[in-house]
Amino acid sequence: ETAEKGGFETFMLKEIHEQADAVAETIADRTVRTDGVDLAEEASFDEALLHGVRRIIVVACGTSFHAGLIGRYAIEEWARVPVELEVASEYRYRNPIVGEGDLVIGITQSGETADTLAAMRLARERGATVLAITNVMGSQATRDADGVLYTRAGLEIGVAATKTFICQVAVMYLLGLRLAELRGTLDVATRTRLMTELKRVPHEIDALLSGLDLEAIARQHYQREFFLYLGRHVGLPVAMEGALKLKEISYIPTDAYAAGEMKHGPIALLDESTPVVCIATDSPLLDKVVSNVQEVRARGAHVIAIASEGNIEIGEHAEQVIRIPAMDWMLQPLLAVIPLQLLAYRIARLRGLNVDQPRNLAKTVTVE
Ligand code: G6P
Repeated sequence: ETAEKGGFETFMLKEIHEQADAVAETIADRTVRTDGVDLAEEASFDEALLHGVRRIIVVACGTSFHAGLIGRYAIEEWARVPVELEVASEYRYRNPIVGEGDLVIGITQSGETADTLAAMRLARERGATVLAITNVMGSQATRDADGVLYTRAGLEIGVAATKTFICQVAVMYLLGLRLAELRGTLDVATRTRLMTELKRVPHEIDALLSGLDLEAIARQHYQREFFLYLGRHVGLPVAMEGALKLKEISYIPTDAYAAGEMKHGPIALLDESTPVVCIATDSPLLDKVVSNVQEVRARGAHVIAIASEGNIEIGEHAEQVIRIPAMDWMLQPLLAVIPLQLLAYRIARLRGLNVDQPRNLAKTVTVE
């Protein structure tokens, strides 16, 4: 097992460090063109499935659901196709209105999650086109779908998903860019710029990982009783994923909230002992996130902000700032989630826990 961990102390840490390669593999031959994404050569996927799509519905569970949420912002912004999202265990039981013209995307790392498979089957029975995004060739999801787009993260052993999540997000970006080209909603210059940025991601992940030291922040907070995560727009699902990672492996209660909604509840939880992780990445809403950070500080809570290198102002408001490389704002979730994975990891280790196999959780949930 030591050999399998490739010199890392756990599978999870190894998989966190494999993320640059995983993204590089996932985008590789799909990003050869300078001004657009190529999905035409995919053996498992006929691009005609994307023609005439009027609405996209994403069904997924757990971390895969968060990847879908990030994809929604990108697809709606770039391709102007409406995207709805629902956890599969709810969707399958509410007699959903779905059918022809709908593209239902099941995102599932394993391709075997019972609820996601059931939601995909139901949608297909009702006439929708079903696309699976999965990491496992030959999995059930690949058989139940009209087409498959693979993430190419390699085998993931840690129960808490890391590298497969990043690759799912990358595939959603690829889909968004391809749809935008097919629908003529992004001009060539913008597509070209986004393609250049996307291809830079593996390099930036490596740069980020090599300079990231969260030990001091983890030591300061690992005995806290509660963590709040805040984000807005595409930063919100990043916050949700960060909160899920911490609760899964450290067993510390967490909540993730849309920062603008904080005043309607979670603000009551804040006191001098609360760490609040704020996703303050670049976006047209950054000013509003900064105001939310100030509201948190005014209650005496500790702010740990995730912000891009270019964001000077945040340093005046947050107690700690974890920097990520600057990049097109819509793509920043690919970088912003990494410090959150590592923070959760460091905290869980300081608490002496088995991060690869947290209690009560399974890597794949094949029963309802
Ligand atoms: C389990 C795993 C999670 C995963 C979820 C969905 O809960 O512990 O890491 O996100 O299942 O799995 P899937 O294979 O469908 O992506």
